[in-house]
Amino acid sequence: MKDAWTWVKHRHFPRHDRWDPFLAVHYLTYACDFRCPYCSDGQGRPYPERAPGHLPEEKALELLRRIRGVCDRIELTGGEPLLHPSIEGILRALPALEFRETVLTTNGWHLPRYLDSVERSIDTLVMSLDTLDPVRAAHWYGKGPETLPRLLENLEQAARRFGRRMVLSAVATAETLEELPALMDHAHALGIHFACYPQLEGVRVPPTLSEHPGYRPVFQELLEAKRKGKRIWATTKALEWMRDLPKIPCRPFTLVAIEPDGRVFYPCLERGTHAGSLLEEPDLHRLRLQGLASHGPQPDCPTQCHSACTLGFASILQHPSTLLSEAACGLRRVLDEKRP
Ligand SMILES: C[S@@+](CC[C@H](N)C(=O)[O-])C[C@H]1O[C@@H](n2cnc3c(N)ncnc32)[C@H](O)[C@@H]1O
Ligand code: SF4
Ligand code: SF4
Repeated sequence: MKDAWTWVKHRHFPRHDRWDPFLAVHYLTYACDFRCPYCSDGQGRPYPERAPGHLPEEKALELLRRIRGVCDRIELTGGEPLLHPSIEGILRALPALEFRETVLTTNGWHLPRYLDSVERSIDTLVMSLDTLDPVRAAHWYGKGPETLPRLLENLEQAARRFGRRMVLSAVATAETLEELPALMDHAHALGIHFACYPQLEGVRVPPTLSEHPGYRPVFQELLEAKRKGKRIWATTKALEWMRDLPKIPCRPFTLVAIEPDGRVFYPCLERGTHAGSLLEEPDLHRLRLQGLASHGPQPDCPTQCHSACTLGFASILQHPSTLLSEAACGLRRVLDEKRP
């Protein structure tokens, strides 16, 4: 009910002085021990090259309480969130904060060590994996020859615990395009969802990818799989947008993205500008006004930002019928799973 009202406000009564996000995306730390060749924030900087920026445990927990005060869904990401030095304490504290939904996005490398705590605290687990080729994996992530067996083992272990609450997420790059159907099949064989997003260089899909002859067919294949009821973690409209890469009707204030130290991105992570810190100003509506004064209203951006965060809510707000097609895909899946 609360979501429906928030949806009505975003769609029909947008205001410059209100910030009602559906989801808070919190970068717990920018530290990361992987070296994915495509890794980039909105300014084109790989996360592992940034200062980790994380807070000591007490402050980190205070920030989480502040985030809970402004939003009831949280995604913990990074960098590699499991590398936050106080990750155990943070995971332990999460249930008491009573978020309606918690998501963790991880490269999966350290997952077994924290799996019990992750299972207790996290509703939806997203693990990234871009390749099933052991030779590519060995150099792709910068971890050497045993990388793929370890990641596959960690993925299977987590999939056994999370089942359909888990997502295998791959980045489509010109080098890995042909691997995506096999990755999708692997996720489905494990009984989990598959997600795939195009590589962005800063905020744009590089032409080497968008003009690759294999690019559109892969997203078309995902779209068809989704329509057949397969577990694909994106709306049908978002998949069409990823396939066609049009200018999207971005809705940055459906989300709030928060740096490890509490600073709130305004209007969005991709621009890299800030409104102020939640640790200094707990009222997100006031932070929006501060952002408005410093950086102006929501920008009218060119064709860009075909990212996971941007596409989901924008697709639903722009095309409410997307929800009907989500329901139809879900129904097809249920019928499919009941078939002997
Ligand atoms: C920044 S990572 C942080 C969490 C964790 N380190 C991981 O890789 O899953 C979050 C997601 O963004 C994706 N990602 C990173 N750089 C990207 C880029 N340039 N284009 C598209 N997706 C990207 C990653 O593959 C991952 O699924
Ligand atoms: S694991 Fe995540 S944060 Fe680390 S380099 Fe890869 S995409 Fe970037
Ligand atoms: S398109 Fe949206 S996410 Fe990208 S820079 Fe513009 S407002 Fe931010």
